[in-house]
Amino acid sequence: MSDFLFARSQMAMSLAFHIVFAALGIGMPLLMAMAEGMYLRTEQPVYLDLCHRWAKGTAILFAVGAVSGTVLSFELGLLWPGFMQHAGAIIGMPFSLEGFAFFTEAIFLGVYLYSGIFVVTANAWMNSPAGFKIVDGQIRDINPIAAMLNPASLHEVVHMTLAAFVATGFMVAAVHAFFLLRDLSNPFHRAALGLALVVACISMPLQILSGDLSARSVARLQPAKLAAMEAHYRTQAGAPLIIGGIPQDQTMTTDYALEIPRGLSFLATHDPNARVAGLEEFPRDQWPNVRVVHWAFDIMVGSGMLMLALTLCADGLWLKYRRLPDNRWLLRGLIAAGPLGFLAIETGWVVTEVGRQPWIIYGVMRTGDAVTPMPGLVVPFVIFTGVYFLLAMVVVLLLRRQFLETRNPVPAQPPEVTHA
Ligand code: HEM
Repeated sequence: MSDFLFARSQMAMSLAFHIVFAALGIGMPLLMAMAEGMYLRTEQPVYLDLCHRWAKGTAILFAVGAVSGTVLSFELGLLWPGFMQHAGAIIGMPFSLEGFAFFTEAIFLGVYLYSGIFVVTANAWMNSPAGFKIVDGQIRDINPIAAMLNPASLHEVVHMTLAAFVATGFMVAAVHAFFLLRDLSNPFHRAALGLALVVACISMPLQILSGDLSARSVARLQPAKLAAMEAHYRTQAGAPLIIGGIPQDQTMTTDYALEIPRGLSFLATHDPNARVAGLEEFPRDQWPNVRVVHWAFDIMVGSGMLMLALTLCADGLWLKYRRLPDNRWLLRGLIAAGPLGFLAIETGWVVTEVGRQPWIIYGVMRTGDAVTPMPGLVVPFVIFTGVYFLLAMVVVLLLRRQFLETRNPVPAQPPEVTHA
C-alpha cells in the first residue's frame, strides 16, 4: 500500500471511530432532556433514575468522543497539510467555532449538537466549495460566512443531525427492548423504550425526507457523485433506478441489478422523464470508486427502509392499543435493528467522502495534492489502529458494566417534598 493510501485509511478509520461517539453525543442529551422533562411532568421516580443512568453511560461516551475528536484535528494538519494551507483561511471559521463549541460542551458536558453542525459545515464546503475566488492560482476575496453557508451545508447538517437522532434512538431502543423481552412489566425499561421509540419514530420518517433533499442537492452540485451512487454510467432521459448489482466500469453496465424504470430521474429531480448525467460525462480519472459508493449508498438507504418499516409497525401498534408497543416480535425486530442506524451513518459517510474522490475540495484540489510528503505513514497508521482498538475495548467493558447494573435497576427515590 502507498503512503497516500495509508494516510487515507488512517483518516477514514479515525472518522469512522469518532462519528459513533459524536452521533451518540448528539442523541443522548436529547433523550436525557426528555427523561428529565417527563420526571418534572409526572414526578415518577423511574424517569429520574433513567436520566441518571443514561447520564453515566453518556459520560463514558463523551470522554472517548473528546479524545478521538482531538486526534482528528491533529491528523488534519499532519496528514493533509496541503488542504489546511489552502482551506484554512476560507473554512477556518467553522473549525474555530467548533473548538469554541467543544470547550463550552466540555464545561457543561452537554449537547454536542452545535459543534457537530460546524464540523459538518466544513465537510459540506469540501463538497461544494464557496466563499473565495482563485485568481492566477492564488486564493482571493475570501468570505468565510459564504464558505460556511455553502450550498451543501443545509442538506448535510439536517441529514447528519437526524442521522444522530435515528441511530441513538434505535440503539437505545434495542438495549431496553432486550431487557424488556425478559420482563415485559419492568417499569424502568418500559419508560426507557417509550422515550427511545418517540425519538426513533419521529426522526426516521423525517430522515427519509431529508435523504430525498440530499439526493436532489447532490444531483445538482456533485453530478459525478450521484452517478456513482446510482451506478449510472450512461446519460439518459427517464433514467432507471439501479438497486444492488455489480457495477462494471469496463463495460459501463451493472450486472444482476434490480431496475426501477424512470426511478432515478424521478428521485433526482421529481420529474420521471428528466435527463440525468451519467459517469460517461466525466473523464475517467475523475470517477470515484463506483462499486464502493453504489454499495454504500444502497446499504444506507436499505437500512433506512428497514428502520422505517419498524417505526411504522410501532406506530400502528400504538394507534391500535394506545399503550407502549411491546409486542414480542416488535421487540425482537428492534433488537436486531439496533446497529442499523450506525451502519447507515458509516455508509452515509462513505458515500459523502469516497463519492467526492479524487477531490479533497471538489473541483479545486485533488486529495493526492493535499497529502503530506512525509514517508513511512504505515507507522502512525498501525499505531492509531492499535490505539483505537484498545479504546474500543475499554468502552465495551465500561458500557457492559453499565448494562449489567441496568439489568436490575433500583428506582431512585424522589426528592423529599416539603409542604409549607
Ligand atoms: C431514503 C433514505 C436515504 C437517502 C435517500 C439518503 C441520501 C443521502 C445522500 C444523497 C447522501 C450524500 C450527501 C452528500 O454527499 O452531500 C447521504 C449522506 C449521508 N447519509 Fe443518507 N440517506 C438516506 C438514509 C440515511 C439514514 C437512515 C442515515 C442514518 C441514520 C443516513 C446517514 C447519512 C450520513 C451520516 C451521511 C453523510 C453526511 C451527510 O451528508 O449529511 N442516511 N445520504
